[in-house]
Amino acid sequence: MNHSGTAVHSHIILIGFMGCGKTTIGRELQRKLSMKFLDMDEAIEQSAGKPISAIFAEHGEETFRDMESDFLTSFAASSNEPLILSTGGGAILREKNRAILRNIGYVVWLKADAETIYQRTRKARTRPILQQPDPRGIITRLLEARTPLYRECAHLVIDVAGLTRSEITSGISESARYHFTQNQP
Ligand code: S3P
Repeated sequence: MNHSGTAVHSHIILIGFMGCGKTTIGRELQRKLSMKFLDMDEAIEQSAGKPISAIFAEHGEETFRDMESDFLTSFAASSNEPLILSTGGGAILREKNRAILRNIGYVVWLKADAETIYQRTRKARTRPILQQPDPRGIITRLLEARTPLYRECAHLVIDVAGLTRSEITSGISESARYHFTQNQP
């Protein structure tokens, strides 16, 4: 807590479209920085007691979006030790969520192009939004609509194309360290 009683945070937060590597990079950062890692989708599944596909099928997307907002609100209110938080690809859709994310840490957008995302996601069956006809078209349209939101929310943008995991994690850890030394709570 700081002197005004507000929780202080210096988390590293990964945002970006489905399939851009948030979970993989998050786990790599966890090892490199010896920080805890939390995957928002997994946390929501655990508290709902069902997979995201079932949440979408039984309650619809809006309920899932409410769960994302609830998760972020309570995460921000608790004074967790600094950790790596990997978010779902749509976590930036609501303005309130974007504000929370920017407020609680260093936000890194892992940016990938539509074709890379399609190739990385086409075999998985876990993402309800892509389990529809023409996933390639869906990716292109959603990516275009969401790009300004990722950009608005991010402190750092990393275009993952052509970079190794180790290059990406080194870039994130160096810039996060710089950010936190310049922005002491
Ligand atoms: C979603 C992305 C998914 C998950 C849900 C909705 C989205 O997370 O939250 O299926 O709207 O982009 P990942 O980005 O981790 O796949």
